[in-house]
Amino acid sequence: MTYLVTGGAGFIGANFVKYLLKKHADIQLIVLDDLTYAGNLGTIKDDLKDSRCVFVKGNITDPTVVQAIFDQYPIDFVVNFAAESHVDRSIENPQVFLETNILGTQNLLETAKRNWTTGKDENGYPTYKKGVKYLQVSTDEVYGSLGETGYFTETTPLDPRSPYSASKTGADLIVKAYGETYKMPINITRCSNNYGPYHFPEKLIPLIIKNILEGKSLPVYGDGTNVRDWLYVEDHCKAIDTVLLTGRIGEVYNVGGHNEKKNIDIVKLTISTMKRLFDEQPAYKKALKKSGDDLSWLSENLIIYVKDRLGHDQRYAIDPEKITDELGWYPETKFEDGIVKTIRWYLENQDWVEEVTSGDYQKYYEAMYGNR
Ligand code: NAD
Ligand code: DAU
Repeated sequence: MTYLVTGGAGFIGANFVKYLLKKHADIQLIVLDDLTYAGNLGTIKDDLKDSRCVFVKGNITDPTVVQAIFDQYPIDFVVNFAAESHVDRSIENPQVFLETNILGTQNLLETAKRNWTTGKDENGYPTYKKGVKYLQVSTDEVYGSLGETGYFTETTPLDPRSPYSASKTGADLIVKAYGETYKMPINITRCSNNYGPYHFPEKLIPLIIKNILEGKSLPVYGDGTNVRDWLYVEDHCKAIDTVLLTGRIGEVYNVGGHNEKKNIDIVKLTISTMKRLFDEQPAYKKALKKSGDDLSWLSENLIIYVKDRLGHDQRYAIDPEKITDELGWYPETKFEDGIVKTIRWYLENQDWVEEVTSGDYQKYYEAMYGNR
């Protein structure tokens, strides 16, 4: 099978590339990524040494770039991770979110349709090359925000509330439209918050780890009671692989592991876990930018409550029953293990953090959080 993996130099896309190379011997991966601030070739440098994986730098909105890939490779699957993914940035600058997330998706769909079409059926619908599929990697944020109870199912009405989630919803709708209007073989997966290695430190968990290592304050939006439903990134990758290979054509699958946490609890847990790891394995202290053996400063006193995110969604919670019952997917990594694995990874991979934050990161941080 030949996969076009867009956004494969970003957090989940790169984890997916690693997952596929480990899981399937007989595959060819074409990674298309424009290497925005969030994409980093270093993340997949070892994977690119594998002859089964090649990289193309380019924008998913560019028809020439995408067509050239279809000209060169017999693409069976398109898996679209490429996106502007950060809610806070979408509040500051929505336009690029609409361009990449909606127009980019439509360009991928149109190019795939053109290249996969083999003819027409008796009703005028296109017919397609056998076994091909387009999978859109979407998010639970398209469902909006929950109160204290209830879960998002695949039939929950779409109700996006941020420019980011509105753009992801727009993308989902155009994917569905290609599925209905042209009978194109598509799936959409809607996953909850991921965490794990290679997560860009603008997002909550890696930002908190980075700030602790630098002895900085830990910014919590609003009162910290907002709830996110966390899933270890490899479990998300397994879900996408499962849907790609066995998902019913045209279906949406929610992905989540029933692991709701308040933001403030995530921050407190990160503090206590890092403290414990420094005690158990003093060599980890090398990752600290603040020197000295006295770690009494590493406490909940670092937490500061900052201005809330505009339109901040209160709670997300996924009901994953459909993917579990139909396709047998289940999450393998318990949060208590995953968070320790993730923190250890950051402690052991500070070079990666420095590499990805060497560009405009500092400017972004100061604009977002001031000089704290
Ligand atoms: P990310 O920001 O870490 O990575 C996005 C990647 O896309 C980067 O490598 C970037 O260079 C690339 N990219 C951006 N614009 C591009 C363009 N126009 N053309 C080509 N490449 C482009 O994002 P992520 O967290 O890995 O998310 C991946 C996908 O999963 C996104 O579609 C996101 O909406 C979805 N998702 C994320 C989460 C999460 O918790 N992170 C949860 C559910 C769904
Ligand atoms: O639910 C899936 C979504 O999860 C994905 O679609 C998005 O691409 C991904 O970025 C993520 O969105 P969130 O907005 O939930 O993630 P983020 O890490 O930005 O924030 C998590 C929560 O923590 C959220 O309630 C805001 C809060 N927060 C975030 C930051 C960066 C803080 O309190 N302080 C912070 O500094």
